[in-house]
Amino acid sequence: MNWELTHRRAVITGAANGIGRATALALAAEATRLLVVDLDAERLAETAQVCRSAGALQVETFAGDLTVVENVRLVGELVRKQLGGLDLLVPAAGIIERDPIEQLSDEHWDRVMNINVRAVFQLTRELLPQMADRGSIVLFSSDAGRRGSPGKAAYATSKAAIIGLARSIVGEVGSRQIRVNVVQPGFIETQMNARTFLEKGDVLAAETPLGRHGRPEEVAQVVAFLCSDASSFVNGIVLPINGGHYMAG
Ligand SMILES: NC(=O)c1ccc[n+]([C@@H]2O[C@H](COP(=O)([O-])OP(=O)(O)OC[C@H]3O[C@@H](n4cnc5c(N)ncnc54)[C@H](O)[C@@H]3O)[C@@H](O)[C@H]2O)c1
Repeated sequence: MNWELTHRRAVITGAANGIGRATALALAAEATRLLVVDLDAERLAETAQVCRSAGALQVETFAGDLTVVENVRLVGELVRKQLGGLDLLVPAAGIIERDPIEQLSDEHWDRVMNINVRAVFQLTRELLPQMADRGSIVLFSSDAGRRGSPGKAAYATSKAAIIGLARSIVGEVGSRQIRVNVVQPGFIETQMNARTFLEKGDVLAAETPLGRHGRPEEVAQVVAFLCSDASSFVNGIVLPINGGHYMAG
């Protein structure tokens, strides 16, 4: 697809796997300049290589843990030095953990919140001053942030929090023509969901009007649309990408 993003500079986190990786590839095919970030150095290097082959004009990498604020600062420094600023921010890195509420430890809560919410806030704070006017930020909520998710209270809470964060930033950066939108994927085939798919993948597919799970590329194309001028008056929305599964209740 052609979203006319040539030369746009993008930071994508969680880019070693799943939806972040698919987003990096979708933007690479648009001849963008990328900084891809992830904990998983080996897979990240592979993503970077594939992005170069797919047509990216420049691909920089940063391998590190984004729950460490010094790493967020280093990402800011790389953006300044290597990209000379930023047009698109897609912080997709995230984790999911399970525990019933009575066994949910403070450590579990903090691990999930630190990457799913705090790192997103810190990265946005770090990079906004470098962001060009008419930039676009796309944040990741989840169907769990809308419906809740028994056994995954920290995850569901973190994904609901993202909506509050996004909708607050919208009112602060609109005067610079910077847009902030949220995607809310349903069940997408990535390693994050491997256990859920094993346990009840068939049931979830049957509950979905399209009768199947989503693919990372199907989320990536929506993110690319929200990054592009094709969505230039779309701002502050929460966009479900779930094959109609929300009709299931
Ligand atoms: N897969 C789904 O069904 C689904 C549904 C709704 C929302 N989401 C959201 O989409 C985003 C991407 O999910 P995914 O399914 O592609 O997951 P994934 O597990 O395939 O990929 C997540 C990536 O984030 C990286 N990461 C995790 N913690 C990190 C940290 N501290 N620092 C740097 N990188 C870190 C991982 O190494 C991994 O490469 C997440 O925010 C997730 O919550 C996914």
